[in-house]
Amino acid sequence: MYRTHTCGELRVTDVSKTVTLAGWVQTIRKFGAITFIDLRDRYGITQLLFGEDLQSQLDANPPGREFVLQAVGIVQERSNKNSNITTGEIEITVKSFTILNKSAIPPFTITDETDGGDDLRMKYRYLDLRRNAVKKNLELRYAVSRSTRNYLHEQGFMDIETPFLIKSTPEGARDFVVPSRMNPGQFYALPQSPQTFKQLLMVSGYDRYYQIVKCFRDEDLRADRQPEFTQIDCEMAFVQQEDILNMFEGLVKRIFKDVKGIDYNDMVERMTWEDAMWHYGNDKPDIRFGMHICNLKKPGSVYVNKEDKAALINGADFKVFDDAETVLCIAVPGCSEYTRKQTDEITEWVKRPQIGMKGLVFIKCNADGTFKSSVDKFYSEEKLKAIAEAANAQAGDLILVLAGAEERTRKAMSELRLEMGKRLGLRKDNEFRLLWVLDFPLFEYDEEGNRWVARHHPFTSPKPSDIEVMINNNPVITDAAKYLEHPYAGIKANAYDMVLNGNEIGGGSIRIYQRALQEKMFTALGMSKEEALHKFGFLLGAFEYGAPPHGGLAFGFDRLCAILGGSESIRDFIAFPKNNSGRDVMLDAPSSIDDKQFDELQIKLDLKA
Ligand code: AMO
Repeated sequence: MYRTHTCGELRVTDVSKTVTLAGWVQTIRKFGAITFIDLRDRYGITQLLFGEDLQSQLDANPPGREFVLQAVGIVQERSNKNSNITTGEIEITVKSFTILNKSAIPPFTITDETDGGDDLRMKYRYLDLRRNAVKKNLELRYAVSRSTRNYLHEQGFMDIETPFLIKSTPEGARDFVVPSRMNPGQFYALPQSPQTFKQLLMVSGYDRYYQIVKCFRDEDLRADRQPEFTQIDCEMAFVQQEDILNMFEGLVKRIFKDVKGIDYNDMVERMTWEDAMWHYGNDKPDIRFGMHICNLKKPGSVYVNKEDKAALINGADFKVFDDAETVLCIAVPGCSEYTRKQTDEITEWVKRPQIGMKGLVFIKCNADGTFKSSVDKFYSEEKLKAIAEAANAQAGDLILVLAGAEERTRKAMSELRLEMGKRLGLRKDNEFRLLWVLDFPLFEYDEEGNRWVARHHPFTSPKPSDIEVMINNNPVITDAAKYLEHPYAGIKANAYDMVLNGNEIGGGSIRIYQRALQEKMFTALGMSKEEALHKFGFLLGAFEYGAPPHGGLAFGFDRLCAILGGSESIRDFIAFPKNNSGRDVMLDAPSSIDDKQFDELQIKLDLKA
């Protein structure tokens, strides 16, 4: 037997037991004729005491850091206890030991605060995984997975695997492709998600499906994106949007409870996509704090029934505002006394290339009810007061105003709001706020192709009231400049995203389940009948055989874990992640393959410059 106990197990109640432990050498400390070794395994650390009798054996065969050691000894109460570790009240007086395996000197310290940089840790990920900090993340991931499986099982969901070698399923990213040896010149695609399979399972009658599944997308990477990532993928038949929302807020609340011990009793808030864009400037608002965006000049694009407050700012001869496509502001609470240096610093912040604004206007709403701004030359105090009222600013607030082209200004204001929220400590790690964003547009205008693309994916259904609009109108955009006037621009989808603290943790939709409407959708996306049949004949065919109404969603499993673990980076929660260039630096993948492999595939490599 290699061990009787783990290194995290023994307590004062075990004193005088003879035990055998096995693990890795964390530290070695020598005090005269005595040596202490901290032995570590997945469960914890236990202190081993090697007395005088074992010194010559230690000298003959000295263990080093990360050696694998087995020790037999007696549990003793420690005289100076260590309250930082669970086994801190005891130590093992070693009677005999065996070095089970040696270790080279590790390239970085296996400690919480390691001296290893990112690249080094990724190259030796198997050593990095020994660190407590990384282990905790994987434990959290496992807890989220257990909680998910328990909940979905209790709700009657069935875990069904779907294939990885498939035909391309467009979800908006590029496919990873795999050549087929048995079908020379032909390629499989790795699934961007199991979308069409789960819909087929609904047609087959498996009315509650789930899978914790790998998805593959060849897209530009960020902290919250990996080329292969995991989804909690779900689908239900005979449901409407409300059923889905209820079922899956239940799942997330259960995960909060099981994993974080949090009772999330609040209603999960709901917001239309249009309101999210209007008040927060993005479709995944962080609602842990207010600081709503006020549109002083209604932008042209997507907002249908929104109020235009341009009268407040126009006609003051301030060209920056007069000429701007849009003017947006936020009232930052309690910051009216910012110094010149502080406002200059925020101005520099918005001028950074990532934000890309030319400047920033600010209005101080002084505590005594007066107003002071960087545009006093153009706006009387009375006008400033009216703007402040529109922005819902209180005495003591600092109003920040950005003006410019619609898209850029909206994004910049959204970032500035988040930045100010962070600086003011309003985005607390231990506060979790869930939100459903609803009523997304069904289509998005693709400027390059002057055509419509699916905002979620082509299987998402339009709102019932918009089906007629879709069927009765020609999707072709004759005048690119007026695409917003096309009836398709206003069609809303039965789609929803779940947002947690400003992150999109999941999304889904009620699907199209009638062949005719699905065909219309493909046509709307510019696909010919032949192309639609070639790509999706299997799905259109299945819809001929009694497809039930159905819908579902998928959560980004890695993302959910990262947020619950208080991290920005999903990599920390993946055992073997890729770096930002999509490389596995440990395996050194991707890499070239042998000529023999090319021959078998009947492929000749001829890289375009
Ligand atoms: P969607 O594309 O919105 O929907 O993906 C669902 C969720 O997956 C996460 N996610 C990612 N996580 C890490 N790295 C990535 N590259 C990445 N891309 C997406 C996000 C996202 O909310 N088939 C549909 C779901 C459905 O309609 O049921 C789908 O895949 O958290």
